[in-house]
Amino acid sequence: MLPVVVAGSSHPGMALSIAQALGANARFPVVEKFPDGETHIVAPSVKGTAVYVQTMHPYPNEMLVEMEYTADLLKELGADKIVAVVPYLAYTRQDTRHTDGEGIAIKSMLRMLEKAGVSDIVSVDIHLHRLSLKGMSGLASVRLHEVSAVDALAKESGRFLKAPVVVGPDSESERWAKRAAELLGSSYDMLEKNRTSPTEIEIKPKTLDVKGRDVLIIDDIVSTGDTIKKVIESLRAKGANKIAAAFTHGVLSGEDAAAGLYRAGATYLISTNTINNEFSRVDVGPIIAQKLKEIL
Ligand code: R5P
Repeated sequence: MLPVVVAGSSHPGMALSIAQALGANARFPVVEKFPDGETHIVAPSVKGTAVYVQTMHPYPNEMLVEMEYTADLLKELGADKIVAVVPYLAYTRQDTRHTDGEGIAIKSMLRMLEKAGVSDIVSVDIHLHRLSLKGMSGLASVRLHEVSAVDALAKESGRFLKAPVVVGPDSESERWAKRAAELLGSSYDMLEKNRTSPTEIEIKPKTLDVKGRDVLIIDDIVSTGDTIKKVIESLRAKGANKIAAAFTHGVLSGEDAAAGLYRAGATYLISTNTINNEFSRVDVGPIIAQKLKEIL
């Protein structure tokens, strides 16, 4: 039996894209706010499996409450199984206790969703810098599945760049840089990134030969844009030709994030629609639907 795709309020377009790729129906709960800010939801009653779609931007806490509340409600209204599709999974950067008393937010979040009745979470290019997918899944009983947009991003970059060198800003981005380079038949390298404070980073240039070459920078998240900005500056100093920055999740916090990348010398910005933004050129809906077909 086909699942019913239920749209969270953050990204109805993504729910439609997934429903279309699955050949399933999409339903749209009514989500409203009381004057004091409380969330009020009226959801459809779904029999069988509900695929609930909610990305966690721009208000991750709001989206989390809506997701938890809707999952619980869908279960109460008759759904046998709830699979949450969370294209941008917030809180994944808070995966470790660095100082005494610090919360491991992703663990609490996964457990919260599990208690609300979510059996599986599907997300895109998860920020797995310290934990593996298995390690992050192991923080709760909910099953975590990942798909990647890197193939589609690399393909899209081919419209703008010629035989680019692929560059990742840090060692953790190697899995994406390597894959993109394989697809483009080019070489790749990673720079060295050190976080010197919660808001300051330092990028160490490598002896990369990019003079006169097109470059594709690839990363999972662009948030303030500082990381990619420093990479672009370093590539410009080395005489790179066209520079495209491709990223899965365009968080783009602050008004200046994208403008700063252009000012630093980016020629093109390419993003997916896990978070809709003006650079969303890749629709991850069909990629997610493919994974859903495997796990449902
Ligand atoms: C961090 O390790 C991530 O992969 C991104 O590089 C990071 O989240 C980007 O953040 P920002 O744009 O604020 O530098």
